[in-house]
Amino acid sequence: MDTQEKGSHRDTVRSTPQTTLLLHAEQLLTLRSTAGASGPRRGADMRELGIIEDGAVLIADGKIAAVGTTDEVAKHELAKHAHEIDCSHNVVLPGFVDSHTHPAFTTPRLIDFEKRIAGASYEEIAEAGGGISASLRGVREASTEALATHVLKALDEMAAQGTTMVEAKSGYGLSFAAEMRSLDAIRDAAQQWPGKVVPTLLGAHVVPPEYRDRSEEYVRIVCEEMIPAVANSNGSPPGSEKQIPRGLKPARDDNSSFPTRLAEFVDVFIERGAFTMEQSRRILRAAVQLGLGVRVHVCQLTPAELAPLLEFHPASFDHMDYVSDEDIAVLSKLDTVATLLPAANYFLGLKDFPPARKLLDAGVPVALATDYNPGTSPTPSMPFVLSAACTHTKMSPAEAIVAATYNGACALRLQHQKGSLEPGKDADIAIFEAEDYRELAYWFATNRCRQTFLNGITRL
Ligand code: NIG
Ligand code: FE
Repeated sequence: MDTQEKGSHRDTVRSTPQTTLLLHAEQLLTLRSTAGASGPRRGADMRELGIIEDGAVLIADGKIAAVGTTDEVAKHELAKHAHEIDCSHNVVLPGFVDSHTHPAFTTPRLIDFEKRIAGASYEEIAEAGGGISASLRGVREASTEALATHVLKALDEMAAQGTTMVEAKSGYGLSFAAEMRSLDAIRDAAQQWPGKVVPTLLGAHVVPPEYRDRSEEYVRIVCEEMIPAVANSNGSPPGSEKQIPRGLKPARDDNSSFPTRLAEFVDVFIERGAFTMEQSRRILRAAVQLGLGVRVHVCQLTPAELAPLLEFHPASFDHMDYVSDEDIAVLSKLDTVATLLPAANYFLGLKDFPPARKLLDAGVPVALATDYNPGTSPTPSMPFVLSAACTHTKMSPAEAIVAATYNGACALRLQHQKGSLEPGKDADIAIFEAEDYRELAYWFATNRCRQTFLNGITRL
């Protein structure tokens, strides 16, 4: 049997014949583009799933070769000798894009969990020494290999629930060495996972305890050491004696499944108790100057103004629980995606959820992601996020699916390759046991994902 496997061969990944035909899908959600639009979807376009009944997809060499009704696709030359998978009683759609995750950690935060149940807030727990800082020790002591094992386990759990592309942040090391090791581990895990991983440096997650009274010094390390190290894979950061970690391998020129740099994006947590607007702007400027993309955790616990951030053209503003009406109006004219993370609100036991309806009705492009992390959202499940978004933020199932696929790809600026089922795009596909797309957001705390294809490689 021909195989297209990448990285190490593990038993969760089955080899795939080079040409596969998925046929007789009850509903095939193509999410094909309307009127040639190439930016993120907004407004009425977020309700267009491009549904084909009795649909079929032909996969060849890791790409989508044809999409249409079963009758149409079966006539394709390559379909004649393809391995067939009957998708009757199934919904077939683009794999989920989980565009905001923090998988580089080692242990669950159970003390925080119990304290919150007993009534403490997220910020109170952090001030008492829990929170993000409580995850540092495990990461600083872990080897790259041990961290990569944790990351890979998370990626596999995500794929089992329909996810085929993941953005993965560092942010629990918070020293030059531990952040680089975290990114190294993300890269190592990505090389063993058949889907695409987009790595992000979140060195500015919080100020680590040893810099508590000298946050400026820590910001300098982020700007002058961490960011240059990830941006420049060929040399040491200017003015630093440190060696670039071993993960910096030459970029691959094939189909892009491997990260080419240790990080493609830089993220900052702008919040009381994390980084100020002024510090964040310095960090984002350093990233943009070296050609990295930027994304921002903002308006999660308290309001912040977005205007001072717009000059950096963030791919995404994430959380957005406290975004103002004025900023919503501004965002409706931009391609920056608002990435909502309702599983974090669920897990923190909050009564309020992100203002999805306001954003959508104003025409802001919205994405959904898990925020997989040990403090606010220990779930790898995009279907759970769809459920939370529909039930608690009043997104429609169609809007939630667009937000979890195509707009997630836009939030990572990869919509030309990912996020819809169209000829020439990567074969990132999820098959669900369902006859109607609304079921994807309806069932919860169960896993109805039957199979995923990640760059054409199947996972049962
Ligand atoms: O997105 N807000 C910052 N980062 C994470 C939480 C991280 C943690 O508590 O470990 C978030 O919710
Ligand atoms: Fe987050």
